[in-house]
Amino acid sequence: MSIKLKTPAEIEKMRIAGKLAAEVLEMIEPYVKPGISTGELDQICYEHIVNVQKAIPANIGYHGFQHTSCISINDVVCHGIPSFDKKLKDGDILNIDVTVIKDGFHGDTSKMYIAGKPTVAGEKLCQVTQESLYEAIKIIKPGIRLKEIGKAIQKYVDKFGFSSVREYCGHGIGEVYHDEPQVLHYDADDGGVILKSGMTFTIEPMVNTGDWRTRTMKDGWTVKTKDHGLSAQYEHTILVTDNGVEVLTLRSNENFPRVIEH
Ligand code: CO
Repeated sequence: MSIKLKTPAEIEKMRIAGKLAAEVLEMIEPYVKPGISTGELDQICYEHIVNVQKAIPANIGYHGFQHTSCISINDVVCHGIPSFDKKLKDGDILNIDVTVIKDGFHGDTSKMYIAGKPTVAGEKLCQVTQESLYEAIKIIKPGIRLKEIGKAIQKYVDKFGFSSVREYCGHGIGEVYHDEPQVLHYDADDGGVILKSGMTFTIEPMVNTGDWRTRTMKDGWTVKTKDHGLSAQYEHTILVTDNGVEVLTLRSNENFPRVIEH
């Protein structure tokens, strides 16, 4: 397996793509309310990326997908298809996942939103999922094994009686959308990969209230929890630096450092 290390010029382009992807998630926040459809939310993301950012929504045309975002509500783990028939209800938790291409480089990020009044269970799951992503980012530096990431996530979510999904993973990213390495979100074999300065990849834990197992719907995309429990996901694109990590898709209102030095 060869994992490409980015040059300083490529890293600069990754920073720009990452910032744009983060901005889409910030821009859409005020629209996420009961009554709006996921199709409308997707349309707003599309218009922002294309008309304001002058960038490319990477998901359109990807393996036949026709939308800008994946919007995954409640028991949908990932790859929810936006639809004008799917309207948000009070208390829904939803993940919006966007990838933007700017100047040939990808920025990939997602976060959870709550429509209207949160439920206790929904809010807790979203919070723990975001914290599990932070737990993983905090330990990143050159020289550590890739598997430490999944280990940190699983250890954290297990404490709350939740489970980390195993069938989907983070990925190397750059000029290629889904590149090596695969970044697993549970304690698993990593093929001996050791982190090096200049690697860029996503970490995107999907956390379920119940069992980690999933099933794919007949549409070929929508992935749901097998036991119908709730699922949440947060995703950042990160850069391994000489002495730590930089979060390339950090949002301006996020209570987490952009750069960590060890
Ligand atoms: Co991703």
